[in-house]
Amino acid sequence: MTRAPAPRPGRAGPDHAAMLRVDQAGEYGAARIYAGQLAVLGGRHAMAREIEHMAAQEDRHLNHFNAMMARRQVRPTLLQPFWHVAGFALGAASAIIGPEAAMACTAAVETEIDRHYSEQLDALGDTDAELSDAVVDFQAEEVEHRNAALAAGAERAPAYPLLSGIVRMGCRAAIALSTRI
Ligand SMILES: [Fe+2]
Ligand SMILES: [Fe+2]
Repeated sequence: MTRAPAPRPGRAGPDHAAMLRVDQAGEYGAARIYAGQLAVLGGRHAMAREIEHMAAQEDRHLNHFNAMMARRQVRPTLLQPFWHVAGFALGAASAIIGPEAAMACTAAVETEIDRHYSEQLDALGDTDAELSDAVVDFQAEEVEHRNAALAAGAERAPAYPLLSGIVRMGCRAAIALSTRI
């Protein structure tokens, strides 16, 4: 005869504060990556327009999560000062390699953010409509960013598989760290 598993005390459901924290960290990092790319490419480059458009959308995502965190009294990740520097550095470094490497970086980052948001939506179920609605809304734009980056020649970047793999691994680590810290 099978018995129902005992309820685990303190594990009533998904940790919404941690979810909001990691989402805000991701949007913060994305905004810094685009800022780094634009600092290198400047307004003169043909791809700057595309990146400026993505950056404006990241600002909307970030502002929304900032407001939700203030309302819910959720603190940002302690790693935010690090993401401030690391995100900008990643964006700038990729753009220095070239515009296609910048797009490869974007495609890799957005692939991981898309995956993260899908996993989070699964975990949330119907427990937090406000957070789920925001994630669905923003995820659609992250997918647009990834597709725009691929269309702009991300895969023509030098050492694309290596570059993409490194950035994706970094994003996974950043997501794991920002959930815990
Ligand atoms: Fe975003
Ligand atoms: Fe994005």
